[in-house]
Amino acid sequence: MLQGKSILLGVSGGIAVYKAAELVRLFVKEGASVHVVMTANARQFVTTLTFQALSSNPVGCDLFSIESESRISHIEKAREADLVVLAPATANLMAKMAAGIADDYLTTILLATTAPVLVCPAMNVKMWEHPATRRNLKTLTELGYRVEPPAVGFLACQEEGAGRLADISNILESALRLLTPPTLEGRKVLVSAGPTREHFDPVRFLSNPSSGKMGYALARIAARRSATVTLVSGPCSLEAPARVERISVTSAAQMRDAVLNLSACQDAIVMTAAVSDYRPAEVSPRKIKKSPGQLSVVLAPNPDILASLGAAKPSGQVLVGFAAETENVAENARDKLMRKNLDLIVANDLTKEGAGFGAETNEVKIMGASEETSLCLMTKEEVAERIWDRVEKLLASGKN
Ligand code: PMT
Repeated sequence: MLQGKSILLGVSGGIAVYKAAELVRLFVKEGASVHVVMTANARQFVTTLTFQALSSNPVGCDLFSIESESRISHIEKAREADLVVLAPATANLMAKMAAGIADDYLTTILLATTAPVLVCPAMNVKMWEHPATRRNLKTLTELGYRVEPPAVGFLACQEEGAGRLADISNILESALRLLTPPTLEGRKVLVSAGPTREHFDPVRFLSNPSSGKMGYALARIAARRSATVTLVSGPCSLEAPARVERISVTSAAQMRDAVLNLSACQDAIVMTAAVSDYRPAEVSPRKIKKSPGQLSVVLAPNPDILASLGAAKPSGQVLVGFAAETENVAENARDKLMRKNLDLIVANDLTKEGAGFGAETNEVKIMGASEETSLCLMTKEEVAERIWDRVEKLLASGKN
């Protein structure tokens, strides 16, 4: 996701410095070239060697080093970066930035860079709540710095409150967002994900193995592209992606109500959820007792949410369905595309290795009225990227 990107990580002195090492590892894993700059105080907590080993690049510390000065290295570093991340950012660093002070290597780079800067504060709760820090935070926001607010919890100073460095996964997501062109800015999109559960008594239900991974990846990528995203999710164990509003539902009927309630104002809807086609015709209010012999459950058809969306599709809206198939994949998918009045259908052959339910990867064919693209096996996030590319093309053409 960060291939070809250059990230400058500024590390200032606080107990959370050790967490920045994990951030370097994740940035590198995503393909970024990472350059770390440490303040003198940060070097009291962790040596430069750790960051040098993880980034495979020399760590910048000294504004007046002979070697760096010969190349005016702080200006060079400021120019090269696609993104600057400050983690942890101390109250002192924030104060210097708010005042425009440039008295060391890191603060000099910060004045010279035109790249977006993500500030991730970490400090004692009283320091975070101090009016001077609040004022500096306001100034930084007004100056265009992005801030990943600290998490609330137990702090190293034995106090409790806001001040812990934000979760590394949230910092990574914010960095990815800042490096992603906002191609869905101003667009509202709805994604459904996960399975539905159709209870026949309070403790038993019909369902399927959908993990929600495909739908959550679609929601995450849309948010990264700056869309306003609603995720209607059946029961699954995944965390809601950052900047996504999640509505949790259990049954197909609840999913239909949630989706139809919001559908009219969406620019695009992607139905990834594995909605149960049937539900038990009768639901027992009490646990059905075990008894000898067979138990029959009569099933009634569930409403087809996607078909309802297709029948009432507002002009300009892009409607995307998925087709989970085990045979005649393309024919069945094309039939759903036409019958449900869709703009695109994503044909998912469940017999393929690494595709479909539960996997981290998927292998799909994206089919429209006149264009078909077969994708090779790739991560669900990569599949999501390709689906949103197609949706954006349709939104731009206005022909849907
Ligand atoms: O969640 P994961 O573990 O990541 O797995 C991903 C997935 C396999 C669930 C996903 O890639 C997928 O294929 N989703 C569609 C599953 C499905 O229900 O397919 P279907 O062919 O039965 O339904 C066709 C379309 O109609 C789907 O968009 C479905 O959301 C929708 N539908 C189906 C039944 C129903 N009653 N209402 C609906 O809206």
